[in-house]
Amino acid sequence: MWSLLNHIDKKVSPLNVILEIGVCFGGSLRIWEKLLPAGGMAIGIDKHPAMRDRISGTVLTPYSGKVGRTWEIESDEFNIIKLVSDKEIYIINEDSAAPRTKAGVEHLLKGRDVDFMFHDGIHYGPGPIYDYANFQHFLRTGGMLCIADGMDPGNPQLQVPNLGTQALYHALPPPKLNKIEPHRMGMALWLKQEGFVLDSEQIIKQYGLDYYGKGPTGA
Ligand SMILES: C[S@@+](CC[C@H](N)C(=O)[O-])C[C@H]1O[C@@H](n2cnc3c(N)ncnc32)[C@H](O)[C@@H]1O
Repeated sequence: MWSLLNHIDKKVSPLNVILEIGVCFGGSLRIWEKLLPAGGMAIGIDKHPAMRDRISGTVLTPYSGKVGRTWEIESDEFNIIKLVSDKEIYIINEDSAAPRTKAGVEHLLKGRDVDFMFHDGIHYGPGPIYDYANFQHFLRTGGMLCIADGMDPGNPQLQVPNLGTQALYHALPPPKLNKIEPHRMGMALWLKQEGFVLDSEQIIKQYGLDYYGKGPTGA
């Protein structure tokens, strides 16, 4: 994560708006909250039915067994949860692929562009491709996309991606910031290029991703 923060610091300016797909217990969302300047906004998306307990209650994480984060909820309407913060922090508790999720993001952004998009939601099948295709128009030119588990640490030049997240990264045009961190299958970084629009159907066909079998990470 430190190396990712270093990259964000060096390459993303201004950094006022962050979109995160896959919030889980809100660990990374807390980091985005701290990174943002006054007036900054972070929108997280997660479909987990226990989102409110995960974020505002005292929870035991399945990974470490330690007590999870606690966050106060300021408002909770139409599955848009606003968290108590000196920044504008929201969680949309919906599936990232649902049209109402995109509408919710648009509603919250009110015309602002996203400077940094963190993809850490669905990892397999066409899910990551659809996620980026869905939200790509919110990411400004020069904004950064980070795909968690978007690389193969043993083969950074991967020719046959076997995970949706890897296929998404592979499908993006160069140049790519081939920075790998010790995050399972790496954090894959890319800066959005002017005019680039991902054609999800073509990519899904090209990589044979029209199935929802679980990927190697089991995510
Ligand atoms: C790896 S966790 C996210 C971890 C978090 N970014 C962090 O670093 O603290 C993945 C999350 O993605 C969510 N997720 C998976 N598929 C999703 C989908 N289609 N729509 C919304 N959320 C999804 C899961 O509910 C899970 O909480």
